[in-house]
Amino acid sequence: MIVTTKELFQHAYGKYAIGAYNINNLEQCEGLFQGNVRSEAPFIIQISKGARSYTHKAYLEAIIKAANEIHPEAIFAVHLDHGDEKTCYDCIDSGFYSSVMIDASSFPYEENIAITKRVVERAHAKGLVVEAELGQLKGVEEDVAAAEHVYTKPEEVVDFVTKTGCDSLACAIGTSHGAFKFSGDQKLRYDILEEVQKQIPGFPLVMHGSSSVPQGEVARINAAGGEIKGAKGVDATQFLGAAKRGVTKINIDTDGRLVWTRVHREFFRDQPAGFDLRIPGKIFIKEYADFIYEKNCLLGAAGQLESVKAFLKK
Ligand code: G3H
Ligand code: 13P
Ligand code: ZN
Repeated sequence: MIVTTKELFQHAYGKYAIGAYNINNLEQCEGLFQGNVRSEAPFIIQISKGARSYTHKAYLEAIIKAANEIHPEAIFAVHLDHGDEKTCYDCIDSGFYSSVMIDASSFPYEENIAITKRVVERAHAKGLVVEAELGQLKGVEEDVAAAEHVYTKPEEVVDFVTKTGCDSLACAIGTSHGAFKFSGDQKLRYDILEEVQKQIPGFPLVMHGSSSVPQGEVARINAAGGEIKGAKGVDATQFLGAAKRGVTKINIDTDGRLVWTRVHREFFRDQPAGFDLRIPGKIFIKEYADFIYEKNCLLGAAGQLESVKAFLKK
């Protein structure tokens, strides 16, 4: 069942975080549903602009609709990840998405407010909710690049949230997208989250760039012919600490790509004469489902489904 993130965040706030997982194809979608249903967790499916240009948006919608029918027990939101204004309107008008992210974080503050406010008005009129971003993650977010972290300024959040009317806020606290997040120890600025939470208590926060980049996974990829050097991610034991500080949504994409890469590299290393795409495809679906199961346990979202259902009925 497709719900908005608003309801999911109300249930999760202060206790656990909901996994927001990007999908691009059928195999990811099926593994995602299997893993969430097995771990009895609510979840968020994220579709990026990149996903919408990799395959036709109609395929993505059709795959998700089919998964919803195949897994009637699943409770999830369908969310546009890092949207620009035009893509947000396309998703709002599609009647399929329940949530969009307008990422105007690279614009000057007042412009970020103006763009976000326009998207919020269109989205709310159609019953969708909006995630906005203040501050910038280091690295590339869709087509926007920032050379350094631009941390969220807690003194701006009340003004931003009030003026835009957004429903959740992505904060930049030192994570970045991709597999190369830290050169030494991870440096997450939970002090910023604490200050933000003080300013807007009860308001759902979002953490982007939260893949853990497991070293065992990277080692297996490299042992099977990969060359991923110096990759490092977020310590997943910190997820619950972030949840206590108001983070209700934790975005994970890169780790799933690493599962895909490991499965396929190992398969073709061990089966050099293989060419039936369905064999590694099936292995990936199972491995991805196991991966989602484990993430949901770390996020505290595993086992919440019955309680979420009761909450939605109220
Ligand atoms: O924020 C970035 C997400 O990992 C989506 O990545 O734009 O390559 O689909 P993508
Ligand atoms: P990762 O690259 O850490 O998986 O982050 C994903 C993300 O933030 C999607 O919006
Ligand atoms: Zn992101």
